[in-house]
Amino acid sequence: MGRVIQPYIVVTRASALTGPLRQHLEEWFNREFENNSIVHDKPTWYALARFENTIIGRLGILNRKITVGKQPVRISGLSGLAILPEWRRVGIADLILNRAELFITHELKAEYGLLICRDETAPLYLKRGWERIDSATYFSQKSGIYRFKKTTMILRCAHRHWPAGEIDLCGLPW
Ligand SMILES: CC(C)(COP(=O)(O)OP(=O)(O)OC[C@H]1O[C@@H](n2cnc3c(N)ncnc32)[C@H](O)[C@@H]1OP(=O)(O)O)[C@@H](O)C(=O)NCCC(=O)NCCS
Repeated sequence: MGRVIQPYIVVTRASALTGPLRQHLEEWFNREFENNSIVHDKPTWYALARFENTIIGRLGILNRKITVGKQPVRISGLSGLAILPEWRRVGIADLILNRAELFITHELKAEYGLLICRDETAPLYLKRGWERIDSATYFSQKSGIYRFKKTTMILRCAHRHWPAGEIDLCGLPW
């Protein structure tokens, strides 16, 4: 009979992790997303999937007050969902997102989740109830304000209406 694989999913404060583990998670992000030219904000929390002694999946989480059409909106940002290649396509991303969505909705009391992804990975979120937002999304770097060329997605945690207008992340992207 086949063995049932049961990874352990945990949400933890980044500040509670050891320095080497935090560094490992940050290096994983940089390697996976190859975005060294853009400076990203660091997550306040991580949702991690562990199997035995290995972290097989990671996702960053932070809180931010952004503006949408100049209106302030409280969001929880999700960043850098990544699963080790040998663990893909067995549902680990779904498990991490299940936990992260519960965390931002019930513990962080976010009005919305917000993430930026490549168009190819949008279906992963769409089937979970996330929505694509077509308005332009802007973020800051030391050198100025830039517009994302990727896809912006939101999850309505409090079932509120999403305001119309351009999105300003009011700081670094994540
Ligand atoms: C994208 C990624 C996180 C998916 O992780 P995973 O654990 O393999 O995903 P799951 O097995 O939980 O699959 C969840 C759903 O998403 C779909 N999916 C998985 N990978 C996908 C991909 N690359 N593109 C589109 N959909 C995908 C699956 O078909 C599945 O849907 P189903 O249940 O209807 O079959 C993983 O491939 C990865 O780490 N890629 C490199 C980093 C990356 O691109 N991250 C995305 C950041 S937005």
